[in-house]
Amino acid sequence: MLEGTRPVSFAIVAILVIATLVWFVTRPHPLFAAGDSGLTPGDAERGRLVFAASGCASCHASPGQPDRLKLGGDLALASPYGSFRVPNISPDPQAGIGSWSVADLANALIAGVSPSGQHYYPVFPYASYTGMTFDDVRDLYAYLHTLRPVAERPQPHDIDPMFRIRRFVGFWKLLFFHEGRPEGNAIGDPMHDRGTYLVEALGHCAECHSSRNIFGAIKPKTRFAGGVSSEGVGFNPNITPEGIGSWSEQEIAEMLRSGRTPDHGYVGWSMADVVENTSELPESDRIAMARYLKSLPPRPTPRP
Ligand code: HEC
Ligand code: HEC
Repeated sequence: MLEGTRPVSFAIVAILVIATLVWFVTRPHPLFAAGDSGLTPGDAERGRLVFAASGCASCHASPGQPDRLKLGGDLALASPYGSFRVPNISPDPQAGIGSWSVADLANALIAGVSPSGQHYYPVFPYASYTGMTFDDVRDLYAYLHTLRPVAERPQPHDIDPMFRIRRFVGFWKLLFFHEGRPEGNAIGDPMHDRGTYLVEALGHCAECHSSRNIFGAIKPKTRFAGGVSSEGVGFNPNITPEGIGSWSEQEIAEMLRSGRTPDHGYVGWSMADVVENTSELPESDRIAMARYLKSLPPRPTPRP
């Protein structure tokens, strides 16, 4: 009889150990404890520029109406995992994030963790926003609170049942998420370093201009070298010098202001919407972004 029970009890112990490990490695890591009041709101006018540079309206503005500051959400984001619905981030206390603290917003943007301690899906580009400074989060918070509350509630995500368990995002984070550590290095030139921050963290430009692996994470060798759009239609171009090496710094900055390209065309698709955001920034920020793009290593365009 002993011979029979030993393998069974071993299996139970093994399952418990594995379950404990899975539970442990996938746990969310908020930066601040719930209700932490250590962070105070910052400057709303500066926050307006953080909001523009980060392109929050591109996803969170209510679709089908012209007001980009009506942040009711509900835009459907198609993906290989199903359709995600963007939440309401207006200051409405029920439908939006009006009751959040600054710490809650910092946890969402920098750690990808919700106030109730759950992981967010990385379609919310926190893998880039994780490089955001606390001062920028504080300013952004102050700005968001100057906007109009919207009481509408977006529809729930319509995704594959397998991906509904948020805890599993913990595995993804373990493999692909570097909390608080943005890509790109500072080199001591203020213009270049500002550009690094704007392109890598706030502008999250790599989220569109790269190819992704089967887990939906950016393949490092294709960063900025282009990739199929997340909806699976069209190819987002290579913006390393391999793709736009012939554009001058001034020409890149001009495109980010007006959408006009050096060959006398205009960018379209989702990039036209990005330009709605970058056109709001001071010219020095557009030059900074251009300088950083020109400093990138040329990378071959991946095959779609
Ligand atoms: C590419 C589209 C996209 C962009 C750009 C984007 N978000 Fe989101 N955001 C999402 C999606 C999708 C979710 C829902 C994620 C989930 O359910 O796990 C989300 C979730 C959030 C949440 C959590 C809301 C809640 O009710 O729990 C906050 C707060 C938020 N975003 C703020 C911002 C801010 C501020 C910006 C700009 C700095 C921004 N987002 C930019 C798509 C985006
Ligand atoms: C939501 C996805 C998305 C984001 C985010 C995005 N882009 Fe784009 N970008 C595109 C698409 C799509 C095009 C192609 C537009 C076209 O062909 O009309 C494009 C085109 C470009 C081009 C022109 C390339 C060429 O060869 O014509 C440049 C330069 C560029 N983007 C830079 C940026 C920068 C800098 C950022 C970050 C501030 C950024 N993009 C963020 C989708 C995106």
